[in-house]
Amino acid sequence: MITTAVIPAAGMGTRMLPATKAVPKELLPIVEKPALQLIVDEAVGAGVDHLVIVTSRSKPAIEQYFASDASVEQSLERQGRGSVADQLRRYGSDIRVSFAYQDRPLGLGHAIGCARAAVGEQPFFVMLPDELMSDSSLLAGLARVVADTNIGAVALKRMPRAELSRYGIVSPVGDERTVGGLAALPFVGVVEKPSVDDAPSDLAIIGRYALTPDIFDDLDALTPGSTGELQLTDALAAQATREPLWGVISDVGRIDIGNPLGWLQAVVDAAVDHPEHGVAFRHWLSARTDARD
Ligand code: G1P
Repeated sequence: MITTAVIPAAGMGTRMLPATKAVPKELLPIVEKPALQLIVDEAVGAGVDHLVIVTSRSKPAIEQYFASDASVEQSLERQGRGSVADQLRRYGSDIRVSFAYQDRPLGLGHAIGCARAAVGEQPFFVMLPDELMSDSSLLAGLARVVADTNIGAVALKRMPRAELSRYGIVSPVGDERTVGGLAALPFVGVVEKPSVDDAPSDLAIIGRYALTPDIFDDLDALTPGSTGELQLTDALAAQATREPLWGVISDVGRIDIGNPLGWLQAVVDAAVDHPEHGVAFRHWLSARTDARD
């Protein structure tokens, strides 16, 4: 069972400026919940009880979000939202929250390397907070693959050709098979953001990984690529040369909230299904859509 999740959250969120000038992108709200809370909910739903948040000292609001604050909890109680207060009280009690700092923008590989001391010698998840998943099943599935095989696993999705250059793309070996109850493929190589013609397949890494701790030595050995950044993808490629890694083909709902359109979709999705405001929002949305037609 994997109980630690590393969440890299040191980025500057330039695609969401000027909102991110003062508010970290991970705390932008999806209705009344910060996006980061949805990532944490997904992690906790898959059995995580230790969050390692890799952040920057220029984003103190992230730590503040996890700090206990009796006056916030009391206000929530007064509003009849005791379950939210209970959820916030879990941080620092039954859910441990550690912070690691990445003070220079040296890439995702560097960010994960910064979490080494907090993670220790055990398998762990990496969750990229720019991607929201509809539930915890993908993460739980990746953990099952690692438990069954003792080899790292990444989540994959088949992408249209035009989008391959935005992702890490794997080179699969052999056929799809069932591992831990999921459709999975072994892969021996992975390239970060290849041109369409150089892409080894149409299987893109999406932002969920279940990794074994030997990846930290591969991360430490990285040298900067052409962008000057240390890529997690390059460490995975090094690890996969020793033994193929697993790619789990995901069918879970996914929204990329790192850009304004995706963020809007996530907000509307959450609003439509919102337990308190969903009905009124749906009425408003359909009346507005009719008025526009
Ligand atoms: C990162 C990874 C890439 C992966 C992608 C998933 O890229 O480097 O391999 O496919 O996340 O979203 P980024 O989107 O941070 O540029």
